[in-house]
Amino acid sequence: MKKYNLIFGFIFIFLSASFNMHAQTKKNDLTLSKTFINQNLADATLQIKYLDSQLKPEDIPTTYKDGKHVNWESSWWCSGFYPGTLLYLYEASNDKALLDMAKVKLKYLEKEKYNKGTHDLGFMLFCSFGNAWRLTDDSSAYKEVLTTGAESLASRFKPIPATIRSWDGKPWNYPVIIDNMMNLEFLFQVSKITGNPKYKHIAVTHANTTTKNAFRPDFSSYHVVDYNAEDGTVIAKKTAQGAFDESAWARGQAWGLYGYTVMYRETKDKKYLEQAKNIASFYLNHPNLPEDLVPYWDFDQNKLASDNKYYSKKDLRDASAAAIAASALLELAQYSKGKEGKSYLAKAEKMIQTLSSNEYKAASKENGGYILQHSVGSIPHNTEIDVPLTYADYYYVEALVRYKRLLDGEKVIKSIID
Ligand code: GLY
Repeated sequence: MKKYNLIFGFIFIFLSASFNMHAQTKKNDLTLSKTFINQNLADATLQIKYLDSQLKPEDIPTTYKDGKHVNWESSWWCSGFYPGTLLYLYEASNDKALLDMAKVKLKYLEKEKYNKGTHDLGFMLFCSFGNAWRLTDDSSAYKEVLTTGAESLASRFKPIPATIRSWDGKPWNYPVIIDNMMNLEFLFQVSKITGNPKYKHIAVTHANTTTKNAFRPDFSSYHVVDYNAEDGTVIAKKTAQGAFDESAWARGQAWGLYGYTVMYRETKDKKYLEQAKNIASFYLNHPNLPEDLVPYWDFDQNKLASDNKYYSKKDLRDASAAAIAASALLELAQYSKGKEGKSYLAKAEKMIQTLSSNEYKAASKENGGYILQHSVGSIPHNTEIDVPLTYADYYYVEALVRYKRLLDGEKVIKSIID
């Protein structure tokens, strides 16, 4: 009998150790307090309710500029973030008014499930309907939206060049942007929901092609890789929103970090974990990353000559990139042992602290009701420069919610299906 107890004891210790490999963050390692996180979530809730009070039901807010709200069509890539933020705040507070506010927007967003003209359906439908499914009893209603939407996204995949096409139209041939890594979680989840492996296969193929072609030896990424759709070769590596083609556009690096962390979560393939860690290393050790860990809009902004047309804007920060990176690092920390995991956690904590300071977090009822200030949409397009952005708020609140789960001893990630 004793012998069996010993064997079971060893098996138990072995299994606990294996599970712990993916549950590294201990409560003792957390340095931000429950009071701090809960206060920021409460402030965000008051602020978003103020924003909502200024909107018509059909308005989908994107930013606030020169004292005016900018609301885009539901077909704009940002349309899922506002309802998604409301849903995260509902998760944190159980305040049903937030859920009701989100549901109003979902009605106007649903038609995008038929949109085959964009790769952004993960942002648009998964941040919104995905969270709605996870948090409500209406899953059967949302299942159809998500599966139809995933089919629309899948229609943009071609076996040659083995990627999902990002944009339509000139001057590109078959452009694929690093941002597109963010639409893959949606496909993985729909494969699990439906039992159809097609979507997962597309996600894995897309990620592998991106690993091959979108990165430099230092693991910074190009923004756009343009392919020849006939033979799959790379025609050009360019930027659309960065400072120059060979620069490291800050939000693009954050999208990559987050995207490969999710790839590891969904596949448990170590090569994606390595890629995420290499991107983290580029980002966190970059000599041009400011001490407060909110990056300039481009890591190479200091290389712009004084006669460059972006020169006067070169020192602007992008809070949205910091919010995305903070949320991603909280997850990456769970897949990283010892010192490495603790250092990802510490960096995420510092990012959350900076974003929650007066420098970035808006005062109550200021900033049009958006939570964060000082993001950059696109300097090359001269749009959304040093403004609040709906996706900065979304990923900031996601990071707060992820941190709250850790404080509560819960898993950092809650998926529809694990
Ligand atoms: N997906 C566009 C952006 O990050 O601005």
